[in-house]
Amino acid sequence: MANVIVLGTQWGDEGKGKIVDFLTPSFDVIVRYQGGHNAGHTVYFKGKKLVLHLIPSGILHANKLCVLGNGIALNPKAFLEEISCLRSLGLKIDNNIVLSRQAHLIMPYHELLERWTEEKRGEKKIGTTCRGIGPAYEDKAARIGIRVGDLLDLKVLREKIEENVAWKNEWLKLASYSELKAEEIFREYAGYAEQIAPYIQDVSTLLAKLIKEKKRILFEGAQGTLLDIDHGTYPYVTSSNSSAGGACTGTGVGPTKINAVLGVAKAYITRVGGGPMPTEIGGNIGRLFQERGDEFGATTGRPRRCGWFDAVAVAYACRVNGIDRIALTKPDVLDVFDEIKVCVSYRYRGELIKDFPPEPWILEKVEPEYRILKGWKTNLHGLRDYSQLPPAFLDYVHFLEEAIEAQVVIISTGMEREETIILEGKIDDLIDQKAIKSEII
Ligand code: GDP
Ligand code: IMO
Ligand code: MG
Repeated sequence: MANVIVLGTQWGDEGKGKIVDFLTPSFDVIVRYQGGHNAGHTVYFKGKKLVLHLIPSGILHANKLCVLGNGIALNPKAFLEEISCLRSLGLKIDNNIVLSRQAHLIMPYHELLERWTEEKRGEKKIGTTCRGIGPAYEDKAARIGIRVGDLLDLKVLREKIEENVAWKNEWLKLASYSELKAEEIFREYAGYAEQIAPYIQDVSTLLAKLIKEKKRILFEGAQGTLLDIDHGTYPYVTSSNSSAGGACTGTGVGPTKINAVLGVAKAYITRVGGGPMPTEIGGNIGRLFQERGDEFGATTGRPRRCGWFDAVAVAYACRVNGIDRIALTKPDVLDVFDEIKVCVSYRYRGELIKDFPPEPWILEKVEPEYRILKGWKTNLHGLRDYSQLPPAFLDYVHFLEEAIEAQVVIISTGMEREETIILEGKIDDLIDQKAIKSEII
């Protein structure tokens, strides 16, 4: 029984939500292990677009357990709103959502402090989603965070809120923000406590039991490897481990219980927010990518910066995650181009670099070196069968495989579940194709 991590190999928005939703029939449990409502995972439900921020992208399928691990930063209001939105769509939410008691809570002061630090950074701002994610993880590391489990004892909750608010008010005074009132925050969070209590469990114990029962687990990454706090382009990163290691620390499942890591890579690359991006393209071509790929943030609506596929960056992501298989998404966006560029190395101070340097001060100065491939100039959008794929596109796929040293095993050709091709014989050990096909109309 395979337990698999599915994660992004770029700067997020690779199409993880689509791939997780597609693969879900093959698994029993879908687990988010890090991040919070900074994520925006797009899935389609009965032809309608739905963006999930916190709930795992398996929720559209019946009888799947969706778990939020201890690695999550949880905004309780966003969590409850997402659940009521799912209910309003007619989805059954009873005992199929579980929340770790060790996950950290995002508090009202986190968002305020984030706005302040972003302002202070001026031109060097990270361009965060301003959801309070960074400050919540700061408090976790500083050992003053308030956890989901603290909601279960109102005396503890009150004490922790009072301590934190007294402290945070000192900072807010410096920032010339108005003081917060501990009692108001306590009352708000005590209200959430009642609604959230039924979802709270010990996730590590639960997952260990399910693994013993041979249930199959899919770990859903948020953000992407280049946004990982350790392996990303620090400081232009998010504040959690979006790479494979995060699946263990963010759930309490040991690495020996996880069988594979499937990387999701977009056929080009995008980035939202600040930080270097060597293959970024501006002007009309950049806009064409944005329009064809609908590259506008699923969470903040910001236009995504677009660029050619960066094989140096994706090869790096494959290395730090131990990825040998890739789901390739959105190649249909490139249908119209005569030539397709792939960055295969960087030049830095006259020298050729093949290993991705995560330091922004190096990345800002590298010049990407491209291989130019012939465009396929035919419609890939919506194709469902390998035999329909044009030879020029397959050449492009093989070229990428060599450049990133990983095999492409799934090709996505559109937003909908059925617009997906599984390459024969390449992923049979990890997924049950029959189960997947049975959910595709
Ligand atoms: P995530 O954060 O990695 O889940 O990705 P997002 O949902 O933020 O962004 C991916 C976008 O691309 C969404 O709007 C998806 O509906 C869309 N998408 C996913 N796969 C494909 C594909 O193969 N082709 C096209 N055209 N769109 C896709
Ligand atoms: P999904 O899961 C793309 C980016 C922000 C910013 C940086 C830090 O949909 O791929 P944060 O609010 O996390 O402190 O912001 O990370 N970022 C994302 N970019 N997709 C995401 O999630 C992102 N989540 C955060 O734009 O540059
Ligand atoms: Mg997204």
